[in-house]
Amino acid sequence: MTQKPYKIYFHYENRKQMKAIVLENKEQPFEIKEVETPELQAGQALVKIHAAAFNHRDLWIQKGQYAGLKYPIILGSDGSGIVSAVADEKDKHWIGKEVIINPSLNWDDESPAQPKSFKILGLPDNGTFAEYTVVPAANLYNKPVHLGHEQAAAIPLAGLTAYRSLFSKAKLLKGETVLITGIGGGVALFVLQFAIAQGARVFVTSGSNDKIDRAVALGATAGANYNSREWDKELMQASGGFDVIIDSAAGEGFNKLVDLAKPGARIVFYGGTNGNFQNLSPQKIFWKQLSLLGSTMGNSREFGEMVAFVEKHQIIPSVDKVFDYTDAQNAISRMSERTQFGKIVLRFA
Ligand SMILES: NC(=O)c1ccc[n+]([C@@H]2O[C@H](COP(=O)([O-])OP(=O)(O)OC[C@H]3O[C@@H](n4cnc5c(N)ncnc54)[C@H](OP(=O)(O)O)[C@@H]3O)[C@@H](O)[C@H]2O)c1
Repeated sequence: MTQKPYKIYFHYENRKQMKAIVLENKEQPFEIKEVETPELQAGQALVKIHAAAFNHRDLWIQKGQYAGLKYPIILGSDGSGIVSAVADEKDKHWIGKEVIINPSLNWDDESPAQPKSFKILGLPDNGTFAEYTVVPAANLYNKPVHLGHEQAAAIPLAGLTAYRSLFSKAKLLKGETVLITGIGGGVALFVLQFAIAQGARVFVTSGSNDKIDRAVALGATAGANYNSREWDKELMQASGGFDVIIDSAAGEGFNKLVDLAKPGARIVFYGGTNGNFQNLSPQKIFWKQLSLLGSTMGNSREFGEMVAFVEKHQIIPSVDKVFDYTDAQNAISRMSERTQFGKIVLRFA
């Protein structure tokens, strides 16, 4: 028998089996199954998940509309919990600690884009929708003390994406005017909270007037419903144009964002919920000297800075609704119906 090069340090119970939310194939509902608790490899930690959260990615994967699909899979990129075991002695200090997990795997350098080895927790490797998950110990961060597990689980993927988009890409300055599209989205709401904390003047769009009112209650100046015919004109009148626009919808409506941008503005997009750009005018973009910046998640430095920003400004993530993990299918239905305002969370412990 070959000997393992490390010893496993256990704190909590050493359980061979655990409950997990399993996706057996595309277009199938989630199933709650008893599966083997994952084994640790060198450099890894076992986290007992107290709460996990959905991202739109989980819905794309369930629909079979995502790159690198693989089934069966335990999804979940967001998790908050307690470290139960580690493989390496140097990581022993984590045992028993309350943590959140950085789901951006293998992006520890300052490369301008994620390296080839980059992976997102929860496909291809199993993720946080289980009683236990295994992650590199390097991806553990102390849970902000002002937040409970259900609030903290809302942070990782969306908070990181929002942070890189707003600060690393758009380089938002205090006093600038910002437009955030689709404010009911998990990432969009972090962008709102971060921009307000940075002292920006923030406007939003949404398909729901109620969500606009809720964004105003969180500090947005005003908003417009993207289903109304003149939403762009309303916004131009109210704001005078935007220094920074953060978008995840793309599609045909993106042309209006180009019109709403001030000369020299930065437009960052991290999603394509409404499909491809259509008839985008190069003349408008170069004449206004706009910067169009694509962004995806972020590196480990940005994750650490984002968590510190959340702590410094005592940001409380917008949690839409908390479901018991056994109710995962109803939880994700809420996302496909676009009724949510913020993050949809699953409670495990
Ligand atoms: N590149 C990355 O690293 C990265 C990271 C996270 C997410 N994403 C992508 O970004 C998108 C949002 O992700 P999420 O997790 O925040 O999703 P989410 O919580 O499900 O939010 C999606 C939001 O899209 C908005 N929306 C729908 N139609 C719109 C339209 N016509 N114009 C403007 N907004 C519209 C809706 O806002 P209202 O409800 O207010 O109408 C909805 O709440 C997804 O496509 C996701 O795959 C990419």
